[in-house]
Amino acid sequence: MSDWKTIDYFGDESLNEDPYPYMKDLFDECPVLPLPHLGVVAVTGYDEACEIYRDPDTFSSCNAVVGPFATFPVPLTGDDVSEIVDRYRDQLPMNEHMVTMDPPAHTRERALLMRLITPKRLKDNEEFMWRLADQQLDELISAGSSCEFIGAYAQPFAMLVVADLLGVPDEDHQRFREGFGLSMTPGKTGAGDEHGEELNALGWLDSCFAEYIEDRRLEPRKDVLTDLALATYPDGTTPDVKSVVRTATFLFAAGQETTARLLAAALKHLAEHPELQDELREHHEKIPDFIEEALRIESPVKTDFRLTRRSTTVAGIDIAAGTPVMLLNGAANRDPRRFECPEEFRIDRPNVQSHIAFGRGVHSCPGGPLARAEGRISIERILERMRDIRLSEEHHGPPGAHHFDYERTWVLRGLSRIHLEFTPTESAR
Ligand code: HEM
Repeated sequence: MSDWKTIDYFGDESLNEDPYPYMKDLFDECPVLPLPHLGVVAVTGYDEACEIYRDPDTFSSCNAVVGPFATFPVPLTGDDVSEIVDRYRDQLPMNEHMVTMDPPAHTRERALLMRLITPKRLKDNEEFMWRLADQQLDELISAGSSCEFIGAYAQPFAMLVVADLLGVPDEDHQRFREGFGLSMTPGKTGAGDEHGEELNALGWLDSCFAEYIEDRRLEPRKDVLTDLALATYPDGTTPDVKSVVRTATFLFAAGQETTARLLAAALKHLAEHPELQDELREHHEKIPDFIEEALRIESPVKTDFRLTRRSTTVAGIDIAAGTPVMLLNGAANRDPRRFECPEEFRIDRPNVQSHIAFGRGVHSCPGGPLARAEGRISIERILERMRDIRLSEEHHGPPGAHHFDYERTWVLRGLSRIHLEFTPTESAR
């Protein structure tokens, strides 16, 4: 039993391992609850979170990423702080990315992005995923019958899927793996190698895309990068190169670690439930629901933030203008009013898809279809290529006393490493 009154969610690292008892305490106290720290109101109820996600007029996204640490040069006083928010929002971290924008600026940027994620692009991208999954499994299996799954599969897979979505040519993929520190080549492991500090800041990614875009604007070709370079805003105007680069590179930030955590959570569950491995191997059609349930029970985006523009009430609780509101997706997805026996992993829930792991409203994740396909395709190929997937006792301890390392952040929920052992099988594809 945790004591939510004394625990500081933003500073207490013990919550990283298992935040759910704390989240349950918050919910049991009240689904909309003012916390004793940093003036935050915590929202753990499903309906309440959806209501806030769907009301960008009252709840600004300006602090979506930095939460209660968004600071303004003047105090947020009065019953309506909209004017202050809009005047100073460009001083907040990540203000140049769509996730922190509000309509109408957000509508414009999002429209640009949606021109890139077309049904045709998603279809081609999915074909790439099938090929990539097998290539990576070839690599992984040839290295032995054990692996650290996140570094060896999940991260490079999620990164290269975004690279392909954006039309990065195949011949540049190895350069991207090296750039992100995800190379299998000894000595080229990213941070600390020849790219040095610039690499850490991902400055190389910006220059890489600036080069692609400038090149395709000068000499259009028949490729996805040309579509990206020539995409226009809804009013027909052409964005400057910087804006296109920003849209492209943000997809790596938004789509990589989140999807890697989803894959890791899915594999952990399978390793702990061998009977489910057999069931899904025999019934591939159940894999999509398995992915949905993994998203619900271990939502990779643990918390999301909004800033209250105008004093309001949600579920009868007053929320003053200027209050940072913390939407705990991980808690809302375990709201017992919405999900029966929420702590149980049940792939046959009738409402298995109604979780809010991808948020709701105008900012809801545009990468949802991609992440779902990445999960489905990876699990299908992994189950075909590996049998008897189990947790490494050497790294995670014996059954009954397993231990795991989780990411030390209040934003993401997920394993930082997962060591698996398996029996390889011949490729059936
Ligand atoms: C399991 C994987 C993923 C999860 C759990 C996830 C979760 C989320 C959530 C909760 C939001 C809403 C943020 C908010 O309302 O403040 C979001 C936004 C976003 N996601 Fe994802 N995401 C995932 C994968 C991806 C992928 C693969 C991409 C792209 C390749 C992507 C791109 C984005 C972008 C661009 C936004 C901002 C959208 C906007 O502000 O309108 N995400 N994601």
